[in-house]
Amino acid sequence: MCRILLIALCAFALLSLPSAAQPPVIVIKFSHVVAVDTPKGKAAAYFKKLAEERTGGRIRVEVYPNSSLLSDGEEMEALQLGSVQMLAPSVSKFGPIGVPEFELFDLPYLFDSYRDLHALCEGRVGRLLFDKLEARGIVGLAFWDNGFKDMSADRPLHRPEDMKGLRTRIQASRVLDSEMRALGAIPQMMALTEVYPALEKGVVNAVENPPSNFWTQNMYRAQKYFTLTEHGVIEYAVIVNKRFWDSLPPDLRATLEGAMKDATRLADDIAKKENDDALAAIRASGQTQVISLTPEEKAAWRRALMPVHKANEAHIGRDLVQMAYKDVGFRP
Ligand code: LMR
Repeated sequence: MCRILLIALCAFALLSLPSAAQPPVIVIKFSHVVAVDTPKGKAAAYFKKLAEERTGGRIRVEVYPNSSLLSDGEEMEALQLGSVQMLAPSVSKFGPIGVPEFELFDLPYLFDSYRDLHALCEGRVGRLLFDKLEARGIVGLAFWDNGFKDMSADRPLHRPEDMKGLRTRIQASRVLDSEMRALGAIPQMMALTEVYPALEKGVVNAVENPPSNFWTQNMYRAQKYFTLTEHGVIEYAVIVNKRFWDSLPPDLRATLEGAMKDATRLADDIAKKENDDALAAIRASGQTQVISLTPEEKAAWRRALMPVHKANEAHIGRDLVQMAYKDVGFRP
């Protein structure tokens, strides 16, 4: 009886000990700069859920939203060094790591619809862009939508001339710098976390962003006017550290690719509605007046911004620009 009890106790002890054969949990630190309640925030959370469920806990995804771990300007270096494994920066933030080709997306009025955006991301242009990342120690996994950018300011914007002299926050993109100069504005490059305090202090007095960021980053509290210019887009590239990615067991990598595919579908499905809802919330707040443009006014913005295309062709790469024009049916 005593022996049986001893054997049972030993068996129980063995079961409760962590098995030496069990592989350690692999952690993916996924940093991004926007709120949880945005297309990117929701897609990142969904990716975490799917990745952890489908790998039976062999992968743990730690999502750090809202620049809680790293802000713009720190993220890329951290990814390349391997201190985080995954990011989803906007495609306007690849110039500083030597891949300005991504700034193609910043060309004004290149896209008429989400469909155009997908034609580019899912086609040869998207593949070419991701190929360029490999030499930087980065693998591109997917493109995620946010949406069309609008222009906000502390004065009503109806015509492009209304931008004259406005100190306007931009992301780290030379094309966006040239866009603001074409409008007579003064571009000020800064991290997203700095935007709201800079607006409050009057360091900048204009911004471009989709409604989802304008709302969740509280910019509506500091900007009186939001004009629906839809002059550009914010699109994301979900990227991973190449050394980390290549080191994963093939079965896990395949499972993560599947989870990424489904998270991408979610991002793209919810992006428009998230932005429509954010716009409704901005209107309802009563703090920012939303201005719609007449077709004639919109045509004036387009005309004012078209020179940005030619001026940046060499910077982005002429062949790539021409390829993109063809794939989305764009005529400058
Ligand atoms: C910005 O910096 O304005 C955006 O890129 C933020 C984001 O990730 O949507």
